[in-house]
Amino acid sequence: MVLKELQTLAAGQSHNKTLEQAFYASEAVYRHDIQNYWNKTWIWAGHECQIPKEGDFFLMDYGPESLIIARDREGQVGAFLNVCRHRGSRVCLERSGNRRVFACPYHAWTYELNGALRSAKEMGEGFDPAQYGLLNAHVFLFEGLIFVSTAEHPPECRLGIERLKPLVEPYGLRNLKLAATKSYPVRANWKLAVENYMECYHCGPAHKEYARSHSLKDPEHMTTHLLEALKQRSCAVGLSDQELYLSSNQGDPVGIEFYYKRSPLFEGYETGSQSGRPLAPLLGTLEGFDGGAADMEIGLLNNFLIYSDHMVGYRFFPKGLQDTDIEVTWFVRADAEAGRDYDLEQLTWLWDVTSQDDERIIRLNQEGVNSFHYRPGPLAEMEWAIFSFYEDYLASFK
Ligand code: FES
Ligand SMILES: [Fe+2]
Repeated sequence: MVLKELQTLAAGQSHNKTLEQAFYASEAVYRHDIQNYWNKTWIWAGHECQIPKEGDFFLMDYGPESLIIARDREGQVGAFLNVCRHRGSRVCLERSGNRRVFACPYHAWTYELNGALRSAKEMGEGFDPAQYGLLNAHVFLFEGLIFVSTAEHPPECRLGIERLKPLVEPYGLRNLKLAATKSYPVRANWKLAVENYMECYHCGPAHKEYARSHSLKDPEHMTTHLLEALKQRSCAVGLSDQELYLSSNQGDPVGIEFYYKRSPLFEGYETGSQSGRPLAPLLGTLEGFDGGAADMEIGLLNNFLIYSDHMVGYRFFPKGLQDTDIEVTWFVRADAEAGRDYDLEQLTWLWDVTSQDDERIIRLNQEGVNSFHYRPGPLAEMEWAIFSFYEDYLASFK
């Protein structure tokens, strides 16, 4: 499919229905998605706590892209394309670690921690190393979270950050430690994984463990006394009771979507645990458990769930047309110690079982969508967030 055909396809997409099959099944669309959606936005790469020291680094991969996120000699966090400027080999193969330099395994061109080319043997007169540093990606840091973008001009997000900051400050997100990361590979297009995350219409039928403790599956609970009572409890522990929704689809002058809302857990649940009891020390400056969980979105691809004592991050990395890694990351307060302050198995229990359920329903979704008899279907009111994802996504074809 060429650009024109893709544009016609996107323009013909009906507004209140799921996407046409080609969006989930065409290689041309997949290539478009990486080039014009993923490579044009901000992607959450990780947290500063993963690279505390000079020379610490980790990789983040999606589609054909690989980025090195590293802390340089000046203590700055940088991001570089993991593509050698000589003949294009991957430079760094280790997923994370500590390096003094990055040396390409092919012909040993060697790069500094800030991406600059340090040595390239026998390149002759007139070769200017300054022209051949690793390509830089943009980086922005928010409360310790690292976001990267390979776009020439990444979307604007100052307004969103300004508005979000006071709402999340009490959680002390700068002061976190990575407790666990798990990957759930799913044989489905990345958009089906994102769509699944965006709606809780499926939570009741598909997630019995989650549905026992979280009220989000039931829209009527959100308008009743449960929500009002939570707001009071949240304020009492030092949290804001404000919500935030900023979207360029709504006419807000932001380049990526921002969302923040705290929702009540059911009675008896202080956090997202099996027993309802706390899992780890309280985050930041919180003065107690309010029995809530906040959904935070910084761009449609970057989602976080903040309980009173831990945070869970979600990403859906495309690995192929119908091959996606759901990556779930658990964070606790920086000074918490495994075994003493939290039990890793209990901490990860809820979102481990939930992600296994999600893997199954997303895979089955893709199998059905691949049928010659698939037709776009109508979305329910509870799936409203998928509309804003479609709007944002389809705009990438213009
Ligand atoms: S491709 Fe990296 S040094 Fe040749
Ligand atoms: Fe789910």
